[in-house]
Amino acid sequence: MNDQMKETQNLADKVMFPTYGRVPITLVRGEGCRVWDEDGKEYLDFVGGIAVCSLGHSAPLVSQALANQSKTLVHVSNLYYTKPQTELAQLLVGNSFADRVFFCNSGAEANEAALKLARRYSMEKFGTGRHTIISMTGSFHGRTMATLSATGQEKIQKGYDPLLAGFKFVPFNDLSALEEAVDDSICAVMLEPIQGEGGVVCPQEGYLKGVKEICLKRNLLVIFDEVQVGMGRTGKLFAHEHYGVTPHIMTLAKALGNGLPIGAMLSTEDLSSTFGPGSHATTFGGTPLVTAVAKAVVKSILEDGWLDNCRAMGEYFRGRLGDLQKKYAFIKEVRGVGLIVGVELDQAGAPVVDACREKGFLVNCAQEKVLRFVPPLIIGKEEIDALVEALDEIFGAM
Ligand SMILES: Cc1ncc(COP(=O)(O)O)c(C=O)c1O
Repeated sequence: MNDQMKETQNLADKVMFPTYGRVPITLVRGEGCRVWDEDGKEYLDFVGGIAVCSLGHSAPLVSQALANQSKTLVHVSNLYYTKPQTELAQLLVGNSFADRVFFCNSGAEANEAALKLARRYSMEKFGTGRHTIISMTGSFHGRTMATLSATGQEKIQKGYDPLLAGFKFVPFNDLSALEEAVDDSICAVMLEPIQGEGGVVCPQEGYLKGVKEICLKRNLLVIFDEVQVGMGRTGKLFAHEHYGVTPHIMTLAKALGNGLPIGAMLSTEDLSSTFGPGSHATTFGGTPLVTAVAKAVVKSILEDGWLDNCRAMGEYFRGRLGDLQKKYAFIKEVRGVGLIVGVELDQAGAPVVDACREKGFLVNCAQEKVLRFVPPLIIGKEEIDALVEALDEIFGAM
């Protein structure tokens, strides 16, 4: 490691909160599916900013939209109408179950909006005492007080007591547990169609439909958190499209801006009057700058063939990983949809992550034992082959 790279890291460790267990590389440049560190070493990026940079790094259409809009209008406040915000909302509504959009700045903030909307709607429609939200064990919904209270992982909640009241957890993929948990205090059920941070956990056949049926029977709202798996990650614009079921509320962030911070909460028309003037707001939500970029991103995902590429490359990738599974008994399962791919090992994944980095591949690990791959949707066979060959060598030496 050169002195400059060490210097940057030493300084960062001194002046910033140590909230992140960082990998000892300093990244300075990215292009397509590749990034480079301060030493000039190249990496193929199968993390993509954790499912954010779906069109790749330094995507020309992003740079162009950013440059153009930055010279036109960056921010004016939501006191006023702006065109990019309206056009992005129209694009999202036109390509989803939803009729209404609220823009914010992150996944957690989109989920905050969803939780607030669900509670307020229930209060207006059914009165007080019906405010509890059921979410899933192993879920991840963010780090704000409400979203960590909704997150079914003790390690995320540790040390932040008292958590917000009004959250209840049931196991993912267990319809009977959900049915049993519903009582008169419940207003909504919140879940990720595919759990990302939970270790790429996919819904069983009929599960999401079953959740919706239970909710409809009991007048509960269904909230799908598509922050990680939305925006084309699974080969359809939204993950729930694979399962023939729509929510009442959906949250988005991550890939929506390809790296610019933006979140969105979408819902059906009947919920819209609940968020009347003054009920919810954010200064930076949906600035002309980020929404102009997000509009270009969504259009490209829809029109430039990336959903097809995602489906084809996801299938190819899982096929090649399946071959590795036949060879190495410590691979328990290969799973995923489109380009959210998990490889569950019977041992810690961290040494594999480190070995991949040594060989020039960025990958990461969820829940200690699940290697998670969420590369840009523009990835090709050659790049997948290169990673699989590196994994074969690493696994062979284990
Ligand atoms: C499913 C899901 N929801 C919410 C979040 C929180 O998003 P953010 O980090 O933008 O607040 C994440 C982040 O990983 C996520 O994966």
